[in-house]
Amino acid sequence: MSLKAEINKRRTFAIISHPDAGKTTLTEKLLLFGGAIQVAGAVKSNKIKKSATSDFMEIERQRGISVATSVMAFEYEEKLINILDTPGHKDFAEDTYRTLTAVDSVILVIDCVKGVEQQTERLMEVCRMRKTPVIVFVNKLDRVGKDPYDLLDEIEDKLNISVHPLSWPINMGSDFKGVYKFYDQSLRLFRGGTQKVVGEEDTLSIENLEDDILEEIVGDTDAEQLREDVELIQGVYGDLEVENYRNADVAPVFFGSAVNNFGVKELLDTFIRIAPTPQPRPTTVRDVAPTEKKFSGFVFKIHANIDPRHRDRIAFLRVCSGTFERNTFYKNVRLDKKMRFSNPTSFMAQKKSTIDEAYPGDVVGLYDSGNFKIGDTLTEGEEFMFKGIPSFSPEIFRELINMNPMKTKQLYKGIKQLTEEGVAQLFRTKATNRRVIGTVGELQFDVIKYRLEHEYGASCDFRPITLYKACWVTSEDKEKLKEFAKRKENYMAVDKDKNLVYLAQSQWMLETEQKNYPKIEFHSTSEFKTEA
Ligand code: G4P
Repeated sequence: MSLKAEINKRRTFAIISHPDAGKTTLTEKLLLFGGAIQVAGAVKSNKIKKSATSDFMEIERQRGISVATSVMAFEYEEKLINILDTPGHKDFAEDTYRTLTAVDSVILVIDCVKGVEQQTERLMEVCRMRKTPVIVFVNKLDRVGKDPYDLLDEIEDKLNISVHPLSWPINMGSDFKGVYKFYDQSLRLFRGGTQKVVGEEDTLSIENLEDDILEEIVGDTDAEQLREDVELIQGVYGDLEVENYRNADVAPVFFGSAVNNFGVKELLDTFIRIAPTPQPRPTTVRDVAPTEKKFSGFVFKIHANIDPRHRDRIAFLRVCSGTFERNTFYKNVRLDKKMRFSNPTSFMAQKKSTIDEAYPGDVVGLYDSGNFKIGDTLTEGEEFMFKGIPSFSPEIFRELINMNPMKTKQLYKGIKQLTEEGVAQLFRTKATNRRVIGTVGELQFDVIKYRLEHEYGASCDFRPITLYKACWVTSEDKEKLKEFAKRKENYMAVDKDKNLVYLAQSQWMLETEQKNYPKIEFHSTSEFKTEA
């Protein structure tokens, strides 16, 4: 198959949601359609349980399994679909943000009872920033939820995106009778219970909604209501312009019930029809198109080996252009070093298997003994770095305290590797040479402590410190930057790449410094590094 045909075959996306909206259930149903799993429950058991906060063994177990479920590839209707898993727990939000850099589109799951929840808003912000096309799946229609019109308003208001319903529910909860599909003028009837297969008999083509058959099927009241709804919605929205979806201006909306496998096939069939194929990606030099002959890709996630006796890690590489080949030398641009991989893995049907080739849109697992950092770019020799894989300014800060001086070396090595994996960020204060760990969630500190102990034999503790934000600072005026760094020495630190960081104690202090030093730029992500 030609490179172009391989690219056109692929759809790489992530499912995002607030925890409990139904992401895992939906993923599982999609995999069932693709024949990637045979039984329900196979994905579910991999989920980081809510109890994870106190159960470290569980985290470890999950971490191991989640390597396999980080990417789930399956074939459906001659398309190759790559689902990139995103952790539901908010403390791992940064991991999710980074995974979103490796996808071409997103399916957003919303619980119809709860509506748009906080974490969904944050995730959507990232999608908007990156102009990632989104399809919304309103889930749990078998429960009495918010009015569908109100839900659409809420999505538009809170997520700041225009919606376009492609299906419409007939009632909810115990009265839920099914959905009307605008795009092929048919009714899909809800039979209740777990619908394992979608039978033809459940789908009914209704070319003319005035037909009396509607009364026979859903009853007089619901038939009347549906006619009204359909007329209103068609009047307001018209037909979906696929380009508007691909430009991330409009989000198509489906209604369904993942646990009942209802509305999932419609979602999948529409997804493969409209979702974008692997897209070009910006680099420090130019945009790189997937069709370019030469291979390039970037690392968006690094996963430590669960077995502490083996230090190797798996780096997840998104192929962006050309063909990736096994046992071929590629250049790690940051290290200016040639690397080749004898056992690259793919994640077909949840099993890891060695592959010889991979194409744009694919995710390849590369065994790594500690060379990679998140954001690393591999090319056939060209000098550029993929953009848009920043470190985010952490929200919680603690000072790292070494509890066993005999194991100092292990501690520093461990913390360095964990920060390279993206578990947390490490800053070293200029004046006092203290190590400050910044994370986006409390849970990370537990994970770090546990892993340092079990994987590196080091012992540490964390001392709370008051910090509002760590901001990377730059200036075109080098002298001014030097002066600022000197004057504020007590608040200055460097990150793991020796970039200068200002540790703001409060919002007020940050604003004051911004006012006092107009020539200094304060960045809340490390993205400025790759800005050309
Ligand atoms: P998440 O990955 O987004 O966190 O959500 P997950 O799929 O785990 O779903 C959260 C809960 O919602 C699960 O129930 C799941 O069964 C339920 N659920 C998913 N889709 C639907 C739906 O369409 N209708 C209804 N009524 N429930 C749905 P749980 O009690 O937490 O787990 P379980 O015991 O059912 O496995």
